[in-house]
Amino acid sequence: MKEMLEKIKAEAAAKLSEENADLEAIRVQYLGKKGELTQVLRGMGQLSAEERPIVGQMANDVRAYIENLIEEKKASAASAAMAKKLLDETVDVTMPVEPVTVGSRHPLSQVQTELEDIFIGLGFEIVEGPEVEYDYYNFQALNIPENHPARDTQDTFYITDNILLRSQTSPMQIRAMEQKKPPLRIISPGRVYRSDAVDATHSPLFHQLEGLVVDKGITMGDLKGTLELFAKKMFGDDTKIRFRPHHFPFTEPSAEVDVSCFVCGGKGCSLCKGEGWIEILGAGMVHPNVLRGCGIDPEVYSGFAFGLGIERIVMRKYNIDDMRLLYENDVRFLKQLG
Ligand code: PHE
Repeated sequence: MKEMLEKIKAEAAAKLSEENADLEAIRVQYLGKKGELTQVLRGMGQLSAEERPIVGQMANDVRAYIENLIEEKKASAASAAMAKKLLDETVDVTMPVEPVTVGSRHPLSQVQTELEDIFIGLGFEIVEGPEVEYDYYNFQALNIPENHPARDTQDTFYITDNILLRSQTSPMQIRAMEQKKPPLRIISPGRVYRSDAVDATHSPLFHQLEGLVVDKGITMGDLKGTLELFAKKMFGDDTKIRFRPHHFPFTEPSAEVDVSCFVCGGKGCSLCKGEGWIEILGAGMVHPNVLRGCGIDPEVYSGFAFGLGIERIVMRKYNIDDMRLLYENDVRFLKQLG
């Protein structure tokens, strides 16, 4: 029996020393329930009482010896695997990196944020509304009944006779007055649509920012003061504003508002086409019919509204003469403004 144990020990050691030895198979073969060592131990009953403990001890030693070898092998296999992994994953920190191109916000978004910040500073609240709008909000409630000639200048895309893509942000005046009681001080930026062919100064989709203030005792003076402050913040402290009489169905009186040219300061240059002034927005005092339609008594409350084209401001600010550049998303162009 001793010889058998010696033989098992030697054989197991030889197998374990082989490269890629299957450790688990070897363990089962020698130490498993039906393994060779176990078989030998089963035969111990036939031994004499003196021999039994000696062979028993020896068998235990062989078991411990084989177990040890297996553990050692396992450990060295694991560390070899780790070493290989580390080698495979070596990073050459001296290698030049791929250049990362960081984008920037689109000039239209940048200017919109600038406008919002100015009006938030003046106590206005930002509200947003639907681009798909009812005829009622886009026209009727703004004092533009069916067949009113003002509809011609704001022809848009119709989804049904009654539902359209809004041609201006002014419907947000109505929605704001329906939702909140005065005092009201809101701005509402967003996309608007008109059935215009694309050229250097027209696009079927563009952006506006609407403003509305309604309270007791609001006058044209408040409108002028607000717009003057806005113009100075947006275009510089020396900026002056000028009101020219105009007509909008939903304001009375109405005006178009110009700012003194921020390139030449009013002398006349290529940006202002020699005028010294640049038109930036439409404005006026909210028409009593509009207030009344929203359940606000024009005898008690008054208000002013204004609407500006964001593209127009971006184009003036960066001296861009073709609106299409803002929509083509050519990074060579956008990079220059980023
Ligand atoms: N909605 C008008 C336009 O698109 C601009 C405007 C807004 C005029 C508010 C007066 C008051 O032309």
